[in-house]
Amino acid sequence: MQSLKNKIVLITGASSGIGKACAEQFAQLGANLILTARRLDRIQALADTLIHAHQIKALAIQLDVRNKELVDETILQLPADFKNIDILVNNAGLALTTDKLQEADPKNWDIMIDTNLKGLLYVTHAVLPAMLERNEGHVINIGSVAGQDYYSGGNVYLATKHAARAISKSLRIDLLGTALRVSEVAPGSVETEFSEVRWKDKERAKQFYQDFEPLKPEDIADAVIYCATRRKGVNIGEVIVFPLAQASMHYLYKTPSKGEHHP
Ligand SMILES: NC(=O)c1ccc[n+]([C@@H]2O[C@H](COP(=O)([O-])OP(=O)(O)OC[C@H]3O[C@@H](n4cnc5c(N)ncnc54)[C@H](OP(=O)(O)O)[C@@H]3O)[C@@H](O)[C@H]2O)c1
Repeated sequence: MQSLKNKIVLITGASSGIGKACAEQFAQLGANLILTARRLDRIQALADTLIHAHQIKALAIQLDVRNKELVDETILQLPADFKNIDILVNNAGLALTTDKLQEADPKNWDIMIDTNLKGLLYVTHAVLPAMLERNEGHVINIGSVAGQDYYSGGNVYLATKHAARAISKSLRIDLLGTALRVSEVAPGSVETEFSEVRWKDKERAKQFYQDFEPLKPEDIADAVIYCATRRKGVNIGEVIVFPLAQASMHYLYKTPSKGEHHP
């Protein structure tokens, strides 16, 4: 197992759910953190807590990953002791509605594509040069089982996660011959703010996670940490994590069945 002590880890979307859980676990293992998200108050509070609890260094930087100029500027202007990013966790992402394509609002497509796909590309593109210069680094993308399957109303969200999978796989090829690693962690259903953001309906989101035991964000952070701590010669390509009650995208064991399921 490779130590994470004093490694520099940049996490996008660290204000909630999986990104926040990753921040907590990396901090427990002694890594220094660059926490980014749009909600600065949340990541600042998280950074303060983790600095205090684990005697690490942590920065909270407000960053909307859809803004390429801001992404480039943020990476360029990192303080000297945070410049050498060892691990990038591309986690920021969202789904909006489960409307069928013919009924959907194209504005929501733009937001999902700009965040989940272009945002991931922008941040990776900004971080890679310094990693390549040092010939050291690890890009860990949070994909989804939605990147490997289909469901009604998933259309553009699925497309962004299929794209994230394609980028993970092709980047691994682009980096072949270097010491850089690329991994994808693809979760099934995790209870986070994801469904609340998707439907803008707290009650519907709460109901969605009833009648089965979803994953906790920490379960996905475990998988991320597993990828990050393998010895240097090992690259974990892909980790798929389901809750026990979910056998595939479509096979979810719910009692009583409410039928609705969209990771
Ligand atoms: N929950 C699931 O069942 C599930 C399953 C498979 C995959 N995933 C993936 O896991 C990742 C994390 O989702 P989650 O479940 O933890 O949901 P979440 O609790 O809603 O967290 C999403 C995070 O993304 C950030 N974010 C959204 N838009 C952003 C933007 N434009 N710029 C920067 N940050 C942005 C949010 O921060 P701010 O709002 O503060 O910017 C938040 O920290 C996503 O990529 C999602 O697709 C989730």
